[in-house]
Amino acid sequence: MSGSVGAHAARTLPLSLVYTERMSESGDKTFYLETFGCQMNAHDSEKVVGTLLQQGYRQVPSVEEAGLVLYNTCSIRDKAEQKVFNRLADYKKYRAQGKQFGVLGCVAQQEGEKIFERAPYVSLVCGSASYRNLPQMLVQLETGQRVTGLDDRATDKCFETEYTARSNPHRGYITIIEGCDKFCAYCVVPYTRGKERSRTSSSVLDEARQLVDLGYTEIQLLGQNVNSYRDPDGKKSFAEMLAAVASVAGMRRVRFTTSHPRDFGRDIVDVIDAVPTLCDHVHLPVQSGSTRVLDAMQRLYTRDEYLERIAWIQAARRDISITSDLIVGFPGETEREFEETLSLMDEVRYDSVFTFKYSARPNTPALRLEDAIPDAEKARRLAVLNDKQKQIGAERNQRHVGQVLEVMVEGKNPARGQWIGRTSQIKVMNFTVPAGVELTTGSYVPVRVTGSFPNSLVGDMASASGDCGGSKKSAGRGAAAELG
Ligand code: SAH
Ligand code: SF4
Ligand code: F3S
Repeated sequence: MSGSVGAHAARTLPLSLVYTERMSESGDKTFYLETFGCQMNAHDSEKVVGTLLQQGYRQVPSVEEAGLVLYNTCSIRDKAEQKVFNRLADYKKYRAQGKQFGVLGCVAQQEGEKIFERAPYVSLVCGSASYRNLPQMLVQLETGQRVTGLDDRATDKCFETEYTARSNPHRGYITIIEGCDKFCAYCVVPYTRGKERSRTSSSVLDEARQLVDLGYTEIQLLGQNVNSYRDPDGKKSFAEMLAAVASVAGMRRVRFTTSHPRDFGRDIVDVIDAVPTLCDHVHLPVQSGSTRVLDAMQRLYTRDEYLERIAWIQAARRDISITSDLIVGFPGETEREFEETLSLMDEVRYDSVFTFKYSARPNTPALRLEDAIPDAEKARRLAVLNDKQKQIGAERNQRHVGQVLEVMVEGKNPARGQWIGRTSQIKVMNFTVPAGVELTTGSYVPVRVTGSFPNSLVGDMASASGDCGGSKKSAGRGAAAELG
């Protein structure tokens, strides 16, 4: 179980499928795909869909209509594998209709051939490190063969494809580094996603230019540890690549997630200060405020080292929002150590955080530790953290009241007569527009903030001439351009 405060990447959510025009094309090979997990998994699904369309498949919106049913899974917490097996059991009833079933993603890689044992009607089990072989696998599947794509950790290949069916028409995702070599004691990712491997900076830049040519104005660079990026050609550091992507002509916003504190250099803050199209946001998961617990988690930094990085970000000229992930109830976490997480939150004053109860995962070193903290106590600690963040988030958001912030329009809530969008700091903004004004999604408008909540802002669209040039700090507290 997890509690989340705020809204950004790295959460387990079903991804809705919105490729309507593609669905209406004719063709008899059909597939349905459901996706769980982090933004990287969601983006993998966009690439998987692109590959299937390229192979002559048509995407359909329900299991009933599909010949091939794919399930892109996440294994990060909470007996994820059991949930996958339960879902596969639900699919059993479709077996007689001749449908084929495939399990993709992190549970596929983790459970491997065990999936065939427990759900014999599954015919494809494929981890993310093998997606590049999907075209051949599909051919095998079509001849009725059972197919596995289970790479060992050693792979040095990335899943690059020309065929990506992007589900968001304005924000484009680009994976720049796959896998993880950090091996935090609680985490399955190094076992499900293989070793850390980066794409060349030239291929990333080519993709960024292509996206801008296609009309995308916001790009999000992705990686389990995006800032551990190492250009195989040795041309660019991570910060230099941020600058290069953000300088592509026509680019309005560039984001990147998730940053690992160990690899977070001051040059990242400098480049945000220097390049206006880089967004005012850093997601820097800390997990715990206790150096003893961080050590047991094998996080590779101390509380003080983490706080040093926060100090760099807070010293920036721009008002950079800081978000984080926190785990409560790691094996052996004492009440005092938990309180160190609370005091760290007081020191950092995050804009938002995702909070999780520790959950024991297969293959991980922490599995050998006694998970001695009862679930009720984990739940209590989680509630205390969430209450604290609610208060901090509310206070942090108040600083925006009176500012004019640029918002990328994401949609309309007709019931409330409001539009919805996001600021550069990735804050959700609900706002009204003057009577008769219709906005288009993906456009950028200035919004004067009139109120704030722990997780969102409200405002009114300001006149187009309103200056909303980002979030430069004024002398005292952070402030964007003020109206009037
Ligand atoms: N690479 C990123 C995090 C990716 S996983 C980083 O190191 O920061 C996303 C988040 O899930 C983690 O930050 C952590 O807070 C949470 N998480 C991962 N494994 C977990 C586990 N076994 N129990 C509870 N939370 C977990
Ligand atoms: Fe998991 Fe740690 Fe790697 Fe993040 S850095 S993906 S938490 S092992
Ligand atoms: Fe889940 Fe795998 Fe992402 S475990 S969080 S889908 S890397």
